[in-house]
Amino acid sequence: MDLLHRVLLTALGAFSVFYALVKISLGYWKRRGILHEKPKFLWGNIKGVVNGKRHVQDALNDIYAGYKGRAPFVGFYACLKPFILVLDLKLVHQIVFTDAGHFTSRGLYSNPSGEPLSANLLQLDGHKWRALHAKSAEVFTPANVHKLLARLTQISARIQSDLGRESLQTRNISELVSAYSVDVMASMAFGLAGQDHEEFAKWTRNYWADFKLWRAYLALEFPLIARLLQYKSYAEPATAYFQKVALSQLQAQRRRDRQPLQTFLQLYSNADQPLDDVEIAAQSFGFLLAGLAPLNASLGFCLYELARQPELQERTRREIKRTLEQHGGQVTAECLRELRYTKQVLNETLRLHTPYPFLVRRATKEFELPGSVFVIARGNGVLIPTAAIHRDPEIYEDPERFDPDRFEEEAKRSRPPAAFLPFGDGLRGCIAARFAEQQLLVGLVELLKGHRYAPCAETTIPMEYDNRRLLLAPKSDIKLNVERID
Ligand code: HEM
Repeated sequence: MDLLHRVLLTALGAFSVFYALVKISLGYWKRRGILHEKPKFLWGNIKGVVNGKRHVQDALNDIYAGYKGRAPFVGFYACLKPFILVLDLKLVHQIVFTDAGHFTSRGLYSNPSGEPLSANLLQLDGHKWRALHAKSAEVFTPANVHKLLARLTQISARIQSDLGRESLQTRNISELVSAYSVDVMASMAFGLAGQDHEEFAKWTRNYWADFKLWRAYLALEFPLIARLLQYKSYAEPATAYFQKVALSQLQAQRRRDRQPLQTFLQLYSNADQPLDDVEIAAQSFGFLLAGLAPLNASLGFCLYELARQPELQERTRREIKRTLEQHGGQVTAECLRELRYTKQVLNETLRLHTPYPFLVRRATKEFELPGSVFVIARGNGVLIPTAAIHRDPEIYEDPERFDPDRFEEEAKRSRPPAAFLPFGDGLRGCIAARFAEQQLLVGLVELLKGHRYAPCAETTIPMEYDNRRLLLAPKSDIKLNVERID
């Protein structure tokens, strides 16, 4: 046999093995006899998502709408990886709350020895996550979140100076709100003083610089091999920068005494059983990873919706001004509690533009759905399509309409408990949900108390999302007219 024949035969053999492996992977749900969406070769059910033609929330929404009511869950494939998509709110409640012990993992990739900052709360699973979660729960108590409010209001003052004194201007709202969120992260998660925020802001835009979807996918599928090959999720200069900042701020903090509690670094190192410094740095990075994009998105989407509905904007502003007057112009915890309508506006923003369009879990034990024949096997990946649930017309009438009245107490009580989960919930819910809400409210107070927002020629209506991101973000920066009001 000559060389050409050998090469051809080897190539044919390799292709046949590859083809068989793909077919076996894409036959998982059929073999288990579970209702599933028919997969396409290689791409499974997310072809449009991989090539950037549609957002992942639309793909999940289509599967949810197509199968809801037929079974508690449906199988689908993200490329070759089988996932369960939950269709039934009772099952959502079981996974998130009542039977959360079966679903404590997310199944994300982390490599603590090669990439120490990946040992954060968002990425870790198993006993390491449990220990970290117990210590972090001590940090994010209501009392501690309350203590951080004074610093938060100081930082939010930059919004006024960024808006300036012009009576009418067209502004890039995405940049405006991002400057505020980055300042909060730099200051509270990393302990940086104001003058150092520019370099910090640069690195927050660069840590995904080396990201390749196929490598991330392989790391998820074969984490042991990825760790052996020392695969790193983030650009190394960026993680080196974040680690250096957190470690040096922790040391500086120990040299100062009797300082007011103003950062997560302080709260972690003052805890009863403190983490070591590298572990604390990993949490600071995890907060950036988990929190920055949704904070930016929520404030941007909120102003966008209020700009399009001037009466709702006026009502929100009236409440803010009245409440501030009653509290001597100070944003106190009491004042935030009284901003009921503003909070409804925020919740409606999180419903209509859900920053995390889905929640991820991995079954750590087999789970038999009570009173049925369905079983979620150990190791199965589970997605809860929160964005699809938030736009389900059987739960939210006329779901595309922005209507904060949906979050009046009575309306909330009339919906099932798992119908609104922008922060997830239960054991693996957003540990900082209370802090994030506080940060968003403080930001909205500053943005709305002295300025009015309206669409301009550059406002994209209807909103378009960036298909290349898993978390929801506008496709292009949100721009609005901003008018100063005396
Ligand atoms: C609008 C802002 C935010 C939204 C909508 C949001 C939403 C979420 C969601 C949906 C999850 C997954 C929950 C689940 O799987 O059940 C999550 C997890 C997490 N979030 Fe947030 N988040 C926000 C802000 C923040 C901020 C500001 C921080 C940090 C200061 C933060 C830290 C975390 C962490 C550490 C986790 C992982 C918790 C764990 O697995 O134990 N988030 N967040």
